[in-house]
Amino acid sequence: MVQAKSWILAKHFNGFPKDSDFHLKVEELPEPKDGEVLLEAVFLSVDPYMRPFSRVHMKEGDVMIGTQVAKVIQSKNPAFPVGSHVVSHSGWRTHAVSDGKDLTTIMSDWAPDVSLSLALGTIGMPGLTALYGIEEVLGLQKNETLLVNAAAGAVGTVVGQIAKIKGCKVVGSAGSDAKVAYLTELGFDEAFNYKTVPSLEEALKKAAPEGYDCFFENVGGHFSTVALPQMKNFGRIAVCGSISTYNDSTPQIGPYPHLTMIFKQLRMEGFMQNRWEHKHPESLKRLMAWLKEGKLKSREHITKGFENMPAAFMGLLQGENIGKAIVAV
Ligand SMILES: NC(=O)c1ccc[n+]([C@@H]2O[C@H](COP(=O)([O-])OP(=O)(O)OC[C@H]3O[C@@H](n4cnc5c(N)ncnc54)[C@H](OP(=O)(O)O)[C@@H]3O)[C@@H](O)[C@H]2O)c1
Repeated sequence: MVQAKSWILAKHFNGFPKDSDFHLKVEELPEPKDGEVLLEAVFLSVDPYMRPFSRVHMKEGDVMIGTQVAKVIQSKNPAFPVGSHVVSHSGWRTHAVSDGKDLTTIMSDWAPDVSLSLALGTIGMPGLTALYGIEEVLGLQKNETLLVNAAAGAVGTVVGQIAKIKGCKVVGSAGSDAKVAYLTELGFDEAFNYKTVPSLEEALKKAAPEGYDCFFENVGGHFSTVALPQMKNFGRIAVCGSISTYNDSTPQIGPYPHLTMIFKQLRMEGFMQNRWEHKHPESLKRLMAWLKEGKLKSREHITKGFENMPAAFMGLLQGENIGKAIVAV
């Protein structure tokens, strides 16, 4: 018997999440049965999608959804021996019993000097999101100019670096001077702090007077309204996220992009990374190869302690993180 802790959605978020929306539950877990394993969380991910998904896919009393890197501590399933590590979708829990169906083994040639936490970041879902947004949605070509917002985050940092690998000019926006300095360190051609520039429109124009071929959209709302007119004719926009709207209780109203889209003949496509799930193993190998070659750098914002999951999640939504927000148990 093991004592397991989990974070419950006690109350649906109304506006920005609050401590009282979460409840910490403690329970005894049964021994795993034949075919099952007992998992212990090592690293847990907090991600922006948890905010909009909670409204659509969860009810009050459910364990918060999420992914973690876990260690197999008891096994009655030969595919997952004791001591092995997996990526599991068991939510915000310290321990879970699994029949193995939702588990992904960490790739066999994972470099020993690379933290397993990267399986939740650069060599995991956010890295894959960046790769598919660039290759499958935007079809980014050499010498094109790409704009990415929330650029210093888990997805944005990988977007900018892959675009540089592909020989493009990259412009990134982020919410602090420390983040802007990090983008410059990563090799972004232009970066600015969207919170302090006198005019977002002027900052976008100054960074790329020629206009943007591609826009990797993570933020939505006002940023989107200002950025669209800066696209070149026939520009492509990959709508990956809309974090500036996730905590809205009432949907934001216009201005609407239609005329800009018509006159500039823009193509805008929303996507979710799991559309290309069949490509994940190969894609993860490509991301790991770039990491080993030093072409892809990774940074994490680590919060220590399972009890701090809500604080880490709320901190992410407030932009506390540079790179991937991770909770280490
Ligand atoms: N479609 C998919 O399959 C998929 C998969 C993963 C992620 N996503 C989306 O991709 C985006 C980035 O996700 P991530 O995991 O990489 O998160 P992240 O960028 O590591 O963290 C979120 C960042 O968003 C920025 N932010 C928060 N509120 C904002 C606001 N009102 N306006 C502008 N920026 C704001 C903050 O940075 P600043 O300091 O710069 O404001 C914060 O650090 C999110 O929209 C997420 O939902 C989509």
